[in-house]
Amino acid sequence: MNDGLLLVLDEGTTSTRAMLFDPAGNCLSTAQSSIAQHYPASGLVEQDAAEIWDKTLACARQVVGEAQDPPQIRALGITNQRETIVFWDRNTGQPLAPAIVWQDRRTADACNTLRDAGHEPMLRARTGLLLDPYFSASKIRWALDHWPALRDAGDRLAVGTMESYLIHRLTGGLHISDATNASRTALMDIHKGGWDDDLLALFGVDRRLLPEITDSHGRFGTVDPSHFGLPLPICGLAGDQQAAAIGQNCLTPGQSKATYGTGAFVIAPTGATAVDSNNRLLSTIARQAGGERHYALEGSIFVAGSLIQWLRDSLGLLGTAAETAELAQSVPDNGGVYLIPAMTGLGAPHWRPDVRGVLSGLSFGAGRAHIARAALEAMAYQTHDLQAAFAADGTPWTELRIDGGMAANDWMAQDIAGILDMPVTRPAFVETTAKGAAMLAAVGAGLFPALEDACEAMAGPSERFVPALDEETRAKRLAGWDEALAGVLRG
Ligand code: G3P
Repeated sequence: MNDGLLLVLDEGTTSTRAMLFDPAGNCLSTAQSSIAQHYPASGLVEQDAAEIWDKTLACARQVVGEAQDPPQIRALGITNQRETIVFWDRNTGQPLAPAIVWQDRRTADACNTLRDAGHEPMLRARTGLLLDPYFSASKIRWALDHWPALRDAGDRLAVGTMESYLIHRLTGGLHISDATNASRTALMDIHKGGWDDDLLALFGVDRRLLPEITDSHGRFGTVDPSHFGLPLPICGLAGDQQAAAIGQNCLTPGQSKATYGTGAFVIAPTGATAVDSNNRLLSTIARQAGGERHYALEGSIFVAGSLIQWLRDSLGLLGTAAETAELAQSVPDNGGVYLIPAMTGLGAPHWRPDVRGVLSGLSFGAGRAHIARAALEAMAYQTHDLQAAFAADGTPWTELRIDGGMAANDWMAQDIAGILDMPVTRPAFVETTAKGAAMLAAVGAGLFPALEDACEAMAGPSERFVPALDEETRAKRLAGWDEALAGVLRG
């Protein structure tokens, strides 16, 4: 039953990848390419969707080319950075404007205006989200107002999140988006499952510009064989955080996962009911099958791996990201240094797009190692702030499953366990986002009868980190973080 391989496209914020999995969950090969980030001004982040398509296709071709027996590849799964919005010509597939990235804060004022006008309660009730520039809707409005090429395109204009664009290019015209991605646009009623007329009117978005919303697994069309020589069915679709939850076999209420990628995102499934957060967490679609939706509570931290990348590439403080573990343990403590990584504002639970990052507590005794340590410690503190919000919402974590490239850092994993005062588990294979997309594709292709079976068969072994931080140190460190954070929140 379990023959056949699964091709996955994992289009993240800073890199795009193709990976080949077998039905036991082993990753057989990978090709990766980095994506250029454009920062036209403070708080603005754009990407070129054409570059993303070219590089994703090249990675997929490489992986398919390296496969011993390409016809063994049975299905394609796609997972992607969420909220980032693409504008393209539906006749040619060419982008008509830059893609506006999820981190982009250009619509902060517009969101404030809508909030002041009293629209947030309605938006929250229908979408599970907040009025924040993070989500796609305000970005679409801004683009329609400021980029004449979009108006000029008339009926040719298509809008969608990144998986929607890739599917359009792969199939030669299909315009769909899965429910997990659609739930991040702030235009979808997550309870009813479709685009919401009042929200479309609020943001002035014509429904005809948007894709059709689909399940997360099934048969969604076929890749044009000219791309990599195979008429591959597209069988699995999910935003990267929802895919990571699936890859961690985190499907039922009581479980929780945190993925440390460009940002860090905690997802805790809530089952068939969307939980209304009182602590500024998001309610979101975890997956949809047969039109039935499963929900999750989410805490979104905007800066994680991107902080380490910034220390390495912009400040030249590190040779490699892995060096941070060595540097962190080379000093006995953080020396009073705290790094609040609000480079693109703060997400959950603060939702402050207006604030920016701060490095505090510097003395002449502070060196490179203290700053690297403060950067890693910031991951544990930010996760701790979410832990408090989830507990206050009545959905406490009992154990956190961590993953993502940054989670490979043993020092950070141990520090998170210490600061959370809770065991943390980490799978041997930390790229669970791609694995989750492979699981969805496997179910969609009929290799397994249900997602639970795919998770059972494909999730690999995990390692456990047990808290080992004395209470006095933990309390002192958390107090130091709270003080530095309060300074940032005061503005
Ligand atoms: O919501 C944004 C998220 O999907 C980005 O994920 O993996 O690029 O940090 P990542």
